[in-house]
Amino acid sequence: MKFDTPATTNPIDQLKVVGKPVDRIDGPLKVSGAAPYAYERHDVVADQAYGHVVGATIAKGRIRSIDTSAAEAAPGVLAVVTAGNAGKLVKGRFNTAHLLGGPQVQHYHQAIALVVAETFEQARAAAQLLRVDYAREPGRFDLAARRDSATTPKSEPDTGAGDFDAAFPEAPVRLDVTYTTPDQSHAMMEPHASIAAWDGDALTVWTSNQMIDWGRKDLARTLGIPPEQVRLDSPYIGGGFGAKLFLRADVVLAALGAKAAGRPVKVALSRPQIFNNTTHRPATIQRIRIGCGEDGKISAIAHESWSGDLPGGGPEVATQQTRWLYAGANRRCALRLAELDLPEGNAMRAPGEAPGMMALEAAVDEMAEKLGMDPVEFRIVNDTQVDPEKPERPFSQRQLVQCLRTGARQFGWTRRNAKPAQVRDGRWLVGMGVAAAYRNNLVMKSAARVRLGADGRVVVETDMTDIGTGSYTIIAQTAAEMMGVPLDRVDVRLGDSSFPASAGSGGQWGANSSTAGVYAACMKLRESVATKLGLDPAAAGFSDGEVSAGGRSFALADAAKDGELVVEDAIEFGDLDRKFQQSTFGAHFVEVGVDAHTAEIRVRRMLAVCAAGRILNPKSARSQVIGAMVMGTGAALMEELAVDKRLGFFVNHDLAGYEVPVHADIPHQEVVFLDETDPISSPMKAKGVGELGICGVGAAVANAIYNATGVRVREYPITLDKLIGKLPGAA
Ligand code: MOS
Repeated sequence: MKFDTPATTNPIDQLKVVGKPVDRIDGPLKVSGAAPYAYERHDVVADQAYGHVVGATIAKGRIRSIDTSAAEAAPGVLAVVTAGNAGKLVKGRFNTAHLLGGPQVQHYHQAIALVVAETFEQARAAAQLLRVDYAREPGRFDLAARRDSATTPKSEPDTGAGDFDAAFPEAPVRLDVTYTTPDQSHAMMEPHASIAAWDGDALTVWTSNQMIDWGRKDLARTLGIPPEQVRLDSPYIGGGFGAKLFLRADVVLAALGAKAAGRPVKVALSRPQIFNNTTHRPATIQRIRIGCGEDGKISAIAHESWSGDLPGGGPEVATQQTRWLYAGANRRCALRLAELDLPEGNAMRAPGEAPGMMALEAAVDEMAEKLGMDPVEFRIVNDTQVDPEKPERPFSQRQLVQCLRTGARQFGWTRRNAKPAQVRDGRWLVGMGVAAAYRNNLVMKSAARVRLGADGRVVVETDMTDIGTGSYTIIAQTAAEMMGVPLDRVDVRLGDSSFPASAGSGGQWGANSSTAGVYAACMKLRESVATKLGLDPAAAGFSDGEVSAGGRSFALADAAKDGELVVEDAIEFGDLDRKFQQSTFGAHFVEVGVDAHTAEIRVRRMLAVCAAGRILNPKSARSQVIGAMVMGTGAALMEELAVDKRLGFFVNHDLAGYEVPVHADIPHQEVVFLDETDPISSPMKAKGVGELGICGVGAAVANAIYNATGVRVREYPITLDKLIGKLPGAA
């Protein structure tokens, strides 16, 4: 089904099942431990051996030799895989560094060997016996030091409108500030893990991957075999956050290990390996300049961001939101990329907007204060309903102002004291902060197969993934609505590359795109049901397990009496995303307390108001947003990879050293969804919401800290050492 004109009324609009806050259908499996993760799939294939990954202990250079003899002679060892014996490997399209290094080493903890043994302990012990002789080369590890070497990435030319350089100096009120965000790690609960088994030339991997079709194709490409010979299965995923968008070393090494050992092999990356072996969110340096009239209207705005990556990699697109969030005739966004020899940077938890909003929305708070304007009003004054770079291009929907107003009312914004450091609650300095939320809405082709059985059950098969987001549930809701059956008559099967290729889970496009694919397949199934029953497909109504048209009615199951009906279709998107700017909007409100003596920072209350198209399931969408708000809090207050600038690696490579919020750090959270449908986005009239919730939270926390203390910290994360000593009344 081609989607190239805005949606009109369709069966989803009935909202009998879609739009209801139903519990996740995989919930009982998840909380009882019955939803197995990749490493726990002991039953899928017999005789699984264990692989242990060996990572490079230099950041850059060459392996002169690896002596594997002691490891090979160790008890239980079945094989040792290195670049020397692995055969030719081609880098995946989505990978920047090779997943098996050697003889060149491109980054610290790049995998250079896999030791396969009968038991995990034997593999791990033997891995210590490898003797690697390195020729170390100097590397580039310091973004700030490399800033001046950065160039414009080919894929990301500067954008803008008007003449910023002429307009900025003329503006009566000007702000010029630079913010930094650190390298960050996904830190999802389930580590990267895979089990691989060969059957002749055919390879099956049970793995943990957000994008099954990308993974299948890149695994085939890496190993030099046709994609048809590769099957990926990833039905349950313990968090992805972007870490599992692409093929990682566990998959490739499990496949190579299984080939070498002649039996199935399972490989997990240990927690300390994940931080340097896999990808991370790159650090940024962001300069923001805003020029305004006395009326608070932006006349000039520029956002430049510097980030680094391995040669051949890409930038953190931190300026993305600044192209569209606020009006202003003269504007420029520019990305600069420096070559670094740190591990590969890549997508993490709303790449682009998440770190970009941390800078932009704090700068906007600073500008509002300069103007003596309320920060909510300053944002409202600068709203735009069209793409500021191309004013002929409207937004498909844009309720930023409504989000801000609703949030301000609900949060009690009028109780905020605009003058910082005025409010005390015992030992706590108390402040409130606000930030806009913004994340683009992407749409991706997505296919599904639907089956109707003689028992009247509807089965959906698609390689869509559920990374903890609720895909199983919203897909079941979609099929139930379309076919007029209760939710418990629908079975959903996901994550298997033998199913039709879906949009997958990334960039908050998954929910809208994959359910739209199921919608397309169900439209086709409705047609074949009606035809089978001798009803006019255009007139047939589907409800309460029945199909009716022209005064005649049948049980839905009757259509499958002579055999199961099976159809497949895909949603394919035309150019509506070029004609309209499709984005999602919100407003974050945060109250913090800062200990007046120790500068300890505690978040006290959080509210997010979101406008993100039709909300397919308010319960799972709310869970997405509260999880995202936690991530935003982590980014504001804790998350930071410490770079060893001499040796070139991330030092804090476990969850003791890389801090993320725990329950005790997160108080009361509220989420409000504005009533919205977006017929430009898809037949579901939905948009993404999972990543919207993270974009802006960090700045709202930062702005609340400023309001509490009068101290503005521009280097994230905002830790107490950056406040203490500057607090009002500090000795
Ligand atoms: Mo998301 S970082 O695109 O999985």
